[in-house]
Amino acid sequence: EKNGFAHFMLKEIHEQPRALRDTLKGRLAGDDSAVVLKELEIDDQKLRSLRKIFITACGTAYHAGLVGKYVIEQLARVPVEVDIASEFRYRQPLIDEDTLVIVISQSGETADTLAALREARRLGAPVLAVTNVVDSSIAREADHVLYTWAGPEIAVASTKAYTTQLVAMYLIALHLAAVRGTITLEERRAIIKELKQLDSRAELILGNGHLIKDLARIYGRAEDVFFIGRGLDHAVALEGSLKLKEISYIHAEAYAAGELKHGTLALIEKGVPVVALATQKNLFEKTLSNIKEVKARDATVIALAMEGQKELEKVADHVLYIPPTNPVLAPVLAVIPLQLLAYQMAVVRGCDVDQPRNLAKSVTVE
Ligand code: M6R
Repeated sequence: EKNGFAHFMLKEIHEQPRALRDTLKGRLAGDDSAVVLKELEIDDQKLRSLRKIFITACGTAYHAGLVGKYVIEQLARVPVEVDIASEFRYRQPLIDEDTLVIVISQSGETADTLAALREARRLGAPVLAVTNVVDSSIAREADHVLYTWAGPEIAVASTKAYTTQLVAMYLIALHLAAVRGTITLEERRAIIKELKQLDSRAELILGNGHLIKDLARIYGRAEDVFFIGRGLDHAVALEGSLKLKEISYIHAEAYAAGELKHGTLALIEKGVPVVALATQKNLFEKTLSNIKEVKARDATVIALAMEGQKELEKVADHVLYIPPTNPVLAPVLAVIPLQLLAYQMAVVRGCDVDQPRNLAKSVTVE
């Protein structure tokens, strides 16, 4: 059932092109001008009057929510708050009927996320669930459900569920933006066109997996790894860091690159691997100067950027490239090398990749 792959995680990483395609299927108008979300039965008037969106989830799903915040705010111009479900449920969130609550959960059974959903409904907000499991508790209790079609995810570490959750975030953001008139038809078309090409671009990245295997051989024994990035790259850095901790047991931390100077830079010393994400064009120069900052402390930098950013090769020790795409969509591609890096590091260290210690696939207790 592993289809010739050594672990479920590796198989699921490789299933992402198919999963991305399936999650888009039937949700785009024939001429690529619009998103069609039959599942979201909230009328347009209601979507126009929304004053706030909350996204709540745990772990990797929370990281998908962070990308969702950025993308919905940027495209649909609605304020979005993202909260960890175990915090949201106890903090008396300020919710009214002009708030939409989006819960994200691969399994649809996470206890804290389910409790957050119930709390949101109790407070009178409509709840939209993004989940991968049909008829799960969260799917049943939400007002609206948008399914991701990742297929069963067996490995404890979430991979294809995350990238399909990102697709769900883009679909929601594009739909809201259309209804609220915050982006032009041309802008929408341009993003949708790129969205449809993510599967083949993901395929290209997977084809270069051997580069990451080589890196894992060099850095697999590291004790600490830092991940830095700005904007959407920061959200992806958090996910890359969680993946690494979860399956390789290496201590990893993710920081907004501009925040390093405010404390963390003290930890950067000779040879510490720093994975620096620099996929966002408008932030590239800023991230580049943060990379120079850590290089000046003799860190080893593995940079991740879109093809064409040759400048990085002069500064970083290694550069991994993703195919060019619209910067808002970059997280879907940027996370793949990080998933592979975590996987290969865990293999080098002889860890039980699919069943990491102390963790369960579905966390149904608080
Ligand atoms: O099933 P859920 O999406 O609600 O699960 C949430 C988290 O437990 C999950 O994403 C966890 O963080 C993963 N093991 C990370 O790889």
